[in-house]
Amino acid sequence: PTEGNPSVRRVSDWDAERLADLAAEHGTPLYVQDLDRVRENCERLRDAFPDADVRYAVKAHTGRAVLEAVRESELDAECASAGEVDRALAAGFGGERLHYTAVNPPARDLDYVAGVAEAEPDLTVTVGAVDTLDRLAKRGYDGRVCVRVNPGVGAGHHEKVRTGGAAKFGVPYDRAADAARRAAERFDVVGVHAHAGSGIDPEQLDSHRELVARMGELARELVDPSDANTAPLDLEYVDVGGGFGVPYEEDEPPLDLPAVAEATREAVAPLPSGVDLAIEPGRYVVADAGALLTRVNTVKPTPDERVVGVDAGMTDLLRPAMYDAYHPIRNLGGGRNADGSDASAPDDRSATPVTVAGPICETGDTLCRNRALADPTRGDLLAVGVAGAYGYEMASQYNSRPRPAEVALDDGTAAVVRRRETLGDLTAVEREPNRDRHDRT
Ligand code: LLP
Repeated sequence: PTEGNPSVRRVSDWDAERLADLAAEHGTPLYVQDLDRVRENCERLRDAFPDADVRYAVKAHTGRAVLEAVRESELDAECASAGEVDRALAAGFGGERLHYTAVNPPARDLDYVAGVAEAEPDLTVTVGAVDTLDRLAKRGYDGRVCVRVNPGVGAGHHEKVRTGGAAKFGVPYDRAADAARRAAERFDVVGVHAHAGSGIDPEQLDSHRELVARMGELARELVDPSDANTAPLDLEYVDVGGGFGVPYEEDEPPLDLPAVAEATREAVAPLPSGVDLAIEPGRYVVADAGALLTRVNTVKPTPDERVVGVDAGMTDLLRPAMYDAYHPIRNLGGGRNADGSDASAPDDRSATPVTVAGPICETGDTLCRNRALADPTRGDLLAVGVAGAYGYEMASQYNSRPRPAEVALDDGTAAVVRRRETLGDLTAVEREPNRDRHDRT
């Protein structure tokens, strides 16, 4: 790890006083996203993959400030929907830096993207089914296409996020060459793509290597077909997806990115001349740049466990409820004792196993279970770490809870980049039903 650009940022590395000030000023729950760290992560990716096209998977964090930081760091944008394409355009990504990955794309999304392509003909649509090619052609699209392949091998931190091997994603590997050649009759086929899954840890690198090797093989076959009667394709890149994991547990070692890069280059080789490697990490760019701040409002000893009630729940950070994901939690203190006096500093408190639970009416609404924290007291501020990826993005208004605010730190300066939603926002989309049918008096 280079100094000033460490390979991981732990929840203990955040400036506690700064976070406490932000929570006091803006209220909780509050997301904090450090753009300097986003830039560092982009730089580390570029350093490890100097020859590759690096595309940021926008879905991990779509905030405008983050997208602009990523654009300035010279990564491209990989978008999963019309909404993400729209956000990337607004953040200044031109068509040549836009990649739209269409997974069972709704008609509305295809209409939108085909429209964008008229003004931005250099954008690329990544297609995972022959039907999608057909639907694009019907909309007059004849531009750049990348064929997404189901590589038959997947990896990831949870079964629900392993995409490689899941039939939903991509053309089956043994049909991919044929699909790409047929696509080339109508479109400019510029690449092939596969994505193993999300949160690949060091132990899963073999699967990653296998996927990459298969994709290299496919690219060679397409550019230089084994059958002399088959027309060669003029590919620009082989995109081996994202998925690079980051450590969530405090003592978990980070992925050795240069080593992963080396293994990737080796596995994909030899690439035909003129064909580049491409990657599309999301989590790696934004995860450890974000923290979620939440305030303790209830401490309840029970015969089974000590429940610490906080104001952030699964509507703010879904990952623990959805994937049993681990997020580090640090008690920043600031609370009061039962008699109203200031509680001692968290460092002076004993580590106590607690279950941190949110305000949602679901048993699964916990941020951790029976984890040892510096014994929380009412009013304490907790920092939930590694919350910058798939945090705010997966937030919902369930239980009619407005989504939290987000502050971005940029070179030390804080700015609210997403305001806290209000109760009015919850009902803003509602319209009066047509009552005429019922009003028969
Ligand atoms: N490319 C494609 C086509 C993807 O589907 C994804 C993620 C990525 C790139 C970026 O993967 P990453 O580098 O971020 O691992 N909500 C889950 C993660 C779902 C990821 C879906 N696809 C979570 O919170 O763990």
